[in-house]
Amino acid sequence: MEFEFGSLRFKVAQGDITKFPAEAIVNAANKYLEHGGGVAYAIAKAAAGDVREYIRISKEAMREQIGRDYIEHGEVVVTPAMKMEQYGIEYVIHTVGPYCGGRWDEDKKEKLKKAILGALRKADELGVKTIAFPAISAGIYGCPFEEVVKTFKETVEEFSREAKSVKEVYLVLYSRDSYEQALKVLGG
Ligand code: APR
Repeated sequence: MEFEFGSLRFKVAQGDITKFPAEAIVNAANKYLEHGGGVAYAIAKAAAGDVREYIRISKEAMREQIGRDYIEHGEVVVTPAMKMEQYGIEYVIHTVGPYCGGRWDEDKKEKLKKAILGALRKADELGVKTIAFPAISAGIYGCPFEEVVKTFKETVEEFSREAKSVKEVYLVLYSRDSYEQALKVLGG
């Protein structure tokens, strides 16, 4: 499924983001970049082989780029793709979505928008053309999948008015089920 917003395309795809051929992939991180589970663990493992090593690299990058040992919603940290370079990935952009625990309201939505926008703006700054996102906050953080998908579409549309280098934004869904669910949410 594909949407065109001016010169920007928003596409929904299915697959493993650690092998997705985009110059930048986004990590659904926690504020300390601990990469303990979910897609964060998968990215850390695929990048460095050793998850603890990638956590060390991420925390060092956070100190350099943010000057703190945690990030807020909207702040992002960039680390190299390392072993994922074989798929054409150059950067990992770490961003933090809201914790929902099954609940959803305007505040969660704003935090998710900030998380997505922060990553998109950083990709633009890096001169990236193609960026791929996982369904941030829709896993361990327990935000309703349909709301996450809708918020992605809205945020990418908003961003299209300011986009410079970014031309393609992918939402990469891991399972066939979630992919089909997303098609329903966006198509219906
Ligand atoms: N490729 C694409 N998507 C994936 C992959 C993968 N390899 N692995 C998991 N996912 C999907 C999940 O199915 C889910 O839909 O990513 C989405 C986000 O799920 P989580 O990784 O649980 O992220 P989130 O809900 O934002 O929770 C963040 O989890 O891993 C920890 O350190 C992270 O504490 C933070 C929390």
